[in-house]
Amino acid sequence: MSDRLVIFDTTLRDGEQSPGASMTRDEKVRIAKALERMHVDIIEAGFPIASPGDFDAVQAVARSIKDSTVCGLARALDKDIDRAGEALKDANSGRIHTFIATSPIHMQMKLRMEPDQVLEQAVRAVKRARQYTDNVEFSPEDAGRSEADFLCRILEAVIDAGAGTLNIPDTVGYNVPEQFGGLIHSLRERIPNADKAVFSVHCHNDLGLAVANSLSAVVNGARQVECTINGLGERAGNASLEEIVMAVKTRKDIFPCNVDHLDTTEIVPTSRLVAGITGFAVQPNKAIVGANAFAHESGIHQDGVLKSRETYEIMRAEDVGWSANRMVLGKHSGRNAFRTRLVELGVEFASEEELNDAFARFKELADKKHEIYDEDLQALVTESNLDAENENFRLLALRVCSETGETPHATVTLRMDGEEQAADSAGSGPVDAAFRAIEQLADSGTELLLYSVNNITSGTDAQGEVTVRLEKGGRIVNGQGADTDIVIASARAYVNALNKIIVPESREHPQTGDV
Ligand code: KIV
Ligand code: ZN
Repeated sequence: MSDRLVIFDTTLRDGEQSPGASMTRDEKVRIAKALERMHVDIIEAGFPIASPGDFDAVQAVARSIKDSTVCGLARALDKDIDRAGEALKDANSGRIHTFIATSPIHMQMKLRMEPDQVLEQAVRAVKRARQYTDNVEFSPEDAGRSEADFLCRILEAVIDAGAGTLNIPDTVGYNVPEQFGGLIHSLRERIPNADKAVFSVHCHNDLGLAVANSLSAVVNGARQVECTINGLGERAGNASLEEIVMAVKTRKDIFPCNVDHLDTTEIVPTSRLVAGITGFAVQPNKAIVGANAFAHESGIHQDGVLKSRETYEIMRAEDVGWSANRMVLGKHSGRNAFRTRLVELGVEFASEEELNDAFARFKELADKKHEIYDEDLQALVTESNLDAENENFRLLALRVCSETGETPHATVTLRMDGEEQAADSAGSGPVDAAFRAIEQLADSGTELLLYSVNNITSGTDAQGEVTVRLEKGGRIVNGQGADTDIVIASARAYVNALNKIIVPESREHPQTGDV
């Protein structure tokens, strides 16, 4: 059995299924590039049949990623598999991940199918996927609540049909570590052709056990773990990539496999990128990537760490990318250096105009802030990441008046559909006043679900990164804005979200669809 633990990241697919975590195509490409820099083995880029936008995103990731395998999800339906095959056509290395539910409750209530029909459909799906690629993964959805005998039967059949990876999902996060590890152990023992496939696990965190269940499976022979950055994912999320990877790396004495191929110093920058794009902030006490994960508050701890860091530290902060804020560019950096660093970060400019626009904003920032880090650059482009044709609103000017004892006031000038228009409003604070003035012009009919501000780097000259989450007719989008002035950053984030919400899109959810 291989001693390499395959890391399958599903931030762009299951992670995006968290309500409000939607990402644009270009944002997905940037996250995929960050995962590639980390040397993640497989990147699940999306569910191509969900919508034309999802198809485009999977295709764009497949075209930009060279070193990792790019995977597309498909229900066990011909139309899904064909769409995934098409989206992955240009991938250097592509995988189709097909699934069908196998638990009694899912088969009876969701699929309304008999187990034999489910088995037949699974085999047919794997064979069809093999027409597009040799790299096919099969998942019996809700395996954690499926009958072991049926799992053995269906898994044996899909291996014969050509599935090279068998992914065992605990879809509803119901399992506990000993039981889940035991399931993997018994499947490997009982399925006669088990040695022809890699066993994978995909655990949800409803009971807070996703990482523990995944690691128990690894001890019992799983050699692929499906996980997400920051544990993003449906409901309580998926197993978090950073926790899985660092557990296996730190406890080499326990785990019979390794993650030595990964560049773990990319973990923190990638975590920040995902948090910035999705607006899902990382809690300070989150393992590995939380702001306090390596902070030693108490005097006793500090004293211990100063004498010998191993007294209280089991990992080194720099090994996961803390304090990796590298100053990359400054006031005197030219257009070429700017473009080159962004290309390295996975940002492609659709036109010279877009590049010029971003460069002008970079120069503006460099005038206010001497040291520009990768994180600053990522924030700069996150906000301007819109196709020119989808930019209906642009913030041209903002003036706010805020003083003690007075009602704050804002005047906003927007370009809307090519025309310049201005409005002003009072508000309970300068941000509220700015949003009200924007709404007077846009009249969007949206509801504000989230407003959050985070500093991108440290120091009072840091940029504030703002996320604004808007909802309209069930559709949720995130807008981002960054600036050293947080009121301007907020107005930009609001305008950015408005531009996203007016693009019509309907999407299918993979696990509530029509199999
Ligand atoms: O949780 C789950 O079962 C899934 C499958 C599609 C693998 O996400
Ligand atoms: Zn899932």
